Amino acid sequence: MFNVMISGANTKNQGLLNWIREVAELCKPERVYICDGSQEEYDRLCAEMVEGGTFIRLNDEKRPNSYLCRSDPRDVARVEHRTFICCLNKSDAGPTNNWVHPREMKETLDKLYDGCMRGRTMYVIPFSMGPLGSHIAHLGVEITDSPYVVVNMRIMTRMGQAALDVLDEKGFFVRCLHSVGAPLQPGQKDVPWPCDPNNIYISHFREDRAIYSYGSGYGGNALLGKKCFALRIASILAKDEGWLAEHMLVMGVEDPDGEKTYVAAAFPSACGKTNFAMLVPPKGFDGWKIFTVGDDIGWLKPGPDGTLRAINPEAGFFGVAPGTSMKSNPNAMLTLTKNCIFTNVALTEDGDVWWEGMTDEPPAHLIDWKGQDWTPGSGRLAAHPNARFTAPIAQCPSFDPEWDNPEGVPIRALIFGGRMSRNVPLVFQAFHWSHGVYLAATMGSEATAAAEGQPAVRRDPMAMLPFCGYNMADYWNHWLNVGRVLGNPPRIFRVNWFRRDDQGKYVWPGFGENMRVLKWIIDRIHGRRYGIESPMGVMPQFKDIHWEGLEYDPDTFYALMSVDRDEGSKEVREQEDLFDLFFDRLPKEFTHHRELYKSRVWRSPKVWAMAKERV
Ligand code: GTP
Ligand code: SPV
Ligand code: MN
Repeated sequence: MFNVMISGANTKNQGLLNWIREVAELCKPERVYICDGSQEEYDRLCAEMVEGGTFIRLNDEKRPNSYLCRSDPRDVARVEHRTFICCLNKSDAGPTNNWVHPREMKETLDKLYDGCMRGRTMYVIPFSMGPLGSHIAHLGVEITDSPYVVVNMRIMTRMGQAALDVLDEKGFFVRCLHSVGAPLQPGQKDVPWPCDPNNIYISHFREDRAIYSYGSGYGGNALLGKKCFALRIASILAKDEGWLAEHMLVMGVEDPDGEKTYVAAAFPSACGKTNFAMLVPPKGFDGWKIFTVGDDIGWLKPGPDGTLRAINPEAGFFGVAPGTSMKSNPNAMLTLTKNCIFTNVALTEDGDVWWEGMTDEPPAHLIDWKGQDWTPGSGRLAAHPNARFTAPIAQCPSFDPEWDNPEGVPIRALIFGGRMSRNVPLVFQAFHWSHGVYLAATMGSEATAAAEGQPAVRRDPMAMLPFCGYNMADYWNHWLNVGRVLGNPPRIFRVNWFRRDDQGKYVWPGFGENMRVLKWIIDRIHGRRYGIESPMGVMPQFKDIHWEGLEYDPDTFYALMSVDRDEGSKEVREQEDLFDLFFDRLPKEFTHHRELYKSRVWRSPKVWAMAKERV
């Protein structure tokens, strides 16, 4: 029997104690520490990482209690081709996931994990995804050899003693095992960012509801509460239990009369969720307020009153830094003033952080994300495009007090938006639930830096392509079923902030101005019917959008709303490639929606500058 000292918090959960012992025997760490989640523990681990060269403490006057971390340049984003769904039947993983038989994956991993924590501390992180004790929340325990993961998990989840208390003696938890895969030989000096980039495995075991991650220390690969648990494993739980685990921000919109409407929105990675979730209403929207519940993941469960109730399972933001500025997202900038961790951004001469887009003028000299001298003329990026901040949600000026409500908030609209330069209008509404599910399922989006090696444009159904833990067609059927049990299902919308003109410039100003689109959505929800039918769905005319405070040319608006008939036909034909992948499991409704769409497109004018002609 492998003997190791266990220190830190106490638990009486026998299942957890057994698992800790099992993992310790396999991974052979130097010591085991159970995290209590205290500030003292957080500060101590950060100080140790400063000592070891992993963290740089930022200037306390500029950015109190905050740190900069530089990853290994080979470990900078999620790696989708090393992400696996392991279940007994390959068809249950579906054609869009990498499948490996659980037995085979366990054999591979057992070899890798054997002794992988030598010379390191094994941290045990108990956490709750969602309000402590909420019937919508779930518990997990992550075992990791990375102190960087521990301190990030403390910001990102409700972590430590409080979670252990809810877990109690017999509670169930999702097992999340993580190792950076870099054991230390006696006397071997550690590196600032240990990892094993050539051996990454992000694996999910459907039957065991367990996650095993190896080789990477970055973001969604390593903070296992996030994509691995709250989306891939949770989507499996949600299907069995009748709810939805989604890649969605959740926000409240209060109008000048004080009426608050909650919406949730799914945009693919690096397509504007964080921005939208903390939107600041622009000029012309006096009295309107936005409340942020979450910026990345929503768990939505049918409530007793026939509405969908949403919680944010997370407690922090792990947001894209580049492009974030006082102009584009002031609430994010104000969230980042203290108690934050910055990964792969640049360091200024006075010990603060900088990234592309933060200011119009870059500083004259920086240390870039690789630790090298940088000047504006150097021809390199100072921050990595997927550089991220980790920040507590409670620090956000638009933080919604309902965030911790164990019953969640009632969702009235679901918004889906990809990043499409052409042919997808600014906004349109589905005719009804099943049409909306079809629109969400056929959404396309262009590649970003949030993941390695994506094609230029891909179908990203519900922004869940990399995150659905089972067969995507079963997932669509589950969506249709959820709509059937809801007395008053949310209205479904598609948006696209990213349309470009022939010069490559964005046609829509975006960011705070997205409020204008949001207001139209809220009007629709409350039955103030401003909109007309188009082949794609219901669209606003120019007069239906609130333009006060923005000079916007009607012709540009109609260009933004138009789709070329030939392009529209091409798009609907291409959906066949997606549907063919799923043949036998494809919802029948989808085939019908596609046929109806085809005939609407076919009968439409050459260019649907539709709204204009019928003013
Ligand atoms: P993940 O955390 O990866 O899931 O990303 P996210 O969906 O939260 O994306 P985020 O809000 O961080 O935005 C990513 C990038 O999109 C940033 O560079 C933003 O500046 C940019 N962006 C966000 N909103 C808009 C918009 O309305 N218009 C334009 N043009 N860009 C936007
Ligand atoms: C995303 O890629 O959608 C993210 C970042 O939110 S990560 O946590 O790395 O997955
Ligand atoms: Mn995300």
